[in-house]
Amino acid sequence: MGKFVKIPFIGFMLFCVLAMVIEAENMKYKDPKQKLSVRIKDLLKRMTLEEKIGQMTQIERKVASAEVMSKYFIGSLLSGGGSVPKPNATAEDWVNMVNDFQKGSLSTRLGIPMIYGIDAVHGHNNVYKATIFPHNIGLGVTRQVSINRSLKCRCLVLFPGISLMICHAVLLVVDAIDA
Ligand SMILES: *[C@@H]1O[C@H](CO)[C@@H](O)[C@H](O)[C@H]1NC(C)=O
Repeated sequence: MGKFVKIPFIGFMLFCVLAMVIEAENMKYKDPKQKLSVRIKDLLKRMTLEEKIGQMTQIERKVASAEVMSKYFIGSLLSGGGSVPKPNATAEDWVNMVNDFQKGSLSTRLGIPMIYGIDAVHGHNNVYKATIFPHNIGLGVTRQVSINRSLKCRCLVLFPGISLMICHAVLLVVDAIDA
């Protein structure tokens, strides 16, 4: 009896594995093991004109919602100066807001994640109680390359949901002085 049960079960498992392999083969753009050029080609082949237009569009946070992100396939969002989720928004408010927009993007047919952009030149100073960095030139004239680098990293680490950062360009000034 045991044998009869096992064979169809193994057959079923093999079928599942095969189905997964075929699925992965079909969805090359989602497979990180594929070459980037292969993934891009595969994705572009699948996209409709509407999806391409949406992906090339960046809108302001004020007019965005999870629904807008999925309905128009928006590729990117930006918080312009002072564009905040609410007055005195905490880091948690920001993360929740970005995650909500991202859910809208990931719910689309192709599930392309959006890119969120923020101006963090003086730190992400639209977060309540965030540290505000001095002016870029002020940071540059300290000639403390390592401090400037760590400020830049801190911006990136603190806001994992935010992938596009208008950040310190001050290192260019330091490089020019050093050169
Ligand atoms: C924001 O924070 C400041 C400083 O703590 C406070 O004076 C102000 O009333 C707060 N605004 C709102 C809308 O909570």
